[in-house]
Amino acid sequence: MSDSQISGFGLGLRTEHYADFIAAKPAVDWLEIISENYMVPGGKPLHHLDRIRADFSVVMHGVSMSLGGTDALNTDYLRELKALAARVQPAWLSDHLCWTGVNGQNLHDLLPLPMTGAALRHVASRLQQVQDTLGRRLAIENLSSYVRFAADEMNEFQFVAELLRRTDSLLLLDVNNVYVSSVNHGFDARAYIDAMPPERVVQIHLAGHSVQDGFLIDTHDAPVCPEVWDLYRYTLQRIGFRPTMIERDDRIPALDELLAELDIARHIAADVAAEVAAETTAALA
Ligand SMILES: [Fe+2]
Repeated sequence: MSDSQISGFGLGLRTEHYADFIAAKPAVDWLEIISENYMVPGGKPLHHLDRIRADFSVVMHGVSMSLGGTDALNTDYLRELKALAARVQPAWLSDHLCWTGVNGQNLHDLLPLPMTGAALRHVASRLQQVQDTLGRRLAIENLSSYVRFAADEMNEFQFVAELLRRTDSLLLLDVNNVYVSSVNHGFDARAYIDAMPPERVVQIHLAGHSVQDGFLIDTHDAPVCPEVWDLYRYTLQRIGFRPTMIERDDRIPALDELLAELDIARHIAADVAAEVAAETTAALA
């Protein structure tokens, strides 16, 4: 299936729903795969992916590039990622603005960076190296975080906007992550959205989170909350529609439940499109 351009509404592909996507071909416009799940030669995951890919457009989302890490970039990983992309032909690839380990140890978490000029130069250089190796632009995803660094010299949204400017990379804007971090760190989520360059945003993530000890934790185990739906509406009002999907990684429900949740996003997008059309008509009257 050819998909140099993706539009509409998608879901993260999870093994629990393989059979649904193969047999029923549910009404989603595209799917996001976790790249690392398919970076093994042969085996069942690739077999299922090939069947699903015949019917659905796909984007690739990675979790272990460690863009912000201080170990050398893993060239074996990048080579395997590039090979998977050649096979899957995704509309784009993404990974997180984070680090995931040090001294060869993978901590299996997405860890935040200090928001400093030095970190910015470091990540920009590695991101450029990744893009050169892959031969394409990478979409970076904003993180949810629970700590900040005393050394921070700028806001996260300033850091992200400047990184995009320096590297010509793309942005996977996770609206739930913006909300989670805004509550944890006490910043204005709408100001974050305002600071993002609209022309770089290629995709939007939505997800649920949980509350623990007064912090919001990005657990992806619950439906999207009303505050995040409101921020999604604001995002579309500010930047226009972008391909939107829901991530669920724990307490994964039946596919129909996620499809119903995705309909909420469709309704919000339709509402915003109607608002824009009404404003345009009024302006021309
Ligand atoms: Fe996300």
